[in-house]
Amino acid sequence: MSASPSTQRVLFVCLGNICRSPTAEGVFRKRVADRGLEHRIYADSCGTADWHSGKPPDARSIAAARRRGYDLEALRARPLCWEDYYTFDYMLAMDESNLEVLRRESPLDYAGHIGLFLDFAPDLPEREVPDPYYGEGDGFLRVLELVEAASDGLLAELLQHG
Ligand code: 4NP
Repeated sequence: MSASPSTQRVLFVCLGNICRSPTAEGVFRKRVADRGLEHRIYADSCGTADWHSGKPPDARSIAAARRRGYDLEALRARPLCWEDYYTFDYMLAMDESNLEVLRRESPLDYAGHIGLFLDFAPDLPEREVPDPYYGEGDGFLRVLELVEAASDGLLAELLQHG
């Protein structure tokens, strides 16, 4: 990554880093790229578990994203690490249990924002992005809808405070 000091850095966090957070990364990055803002906003994703480290996103996530114009194929899963707290200004969890891990592992002097991604989509009824891994196919579509709404809210926030 080549980021200037004024770059805003966002990390999306789920459990396995093969369904929800790579979807968030792909959707959010496309919004950033479509507006030519890659020099100002950097996004990455990770998992609080390392089970799928090095693997591409789940084939169902890739397929659902592709149908809406997002390409997730080049992404690779990685676990959360301590350097993330010294790199990212926003660390956004997909659900409460991953939020709890982010808070528990946080250095006392972390000065960024740790919260739920869907806090940036206050009009939605959901507060968490449901884990689609063991569910039926529509879970992957709902993930995309939630992630698209929260990506719009997050981008608006970054542009306002950047
Ligand atoms: P994610 O979904 O946290 O959205 O990537 C999951 C992926 C894998 C597993 C659980 C959730 N798993 O149990 O392997």
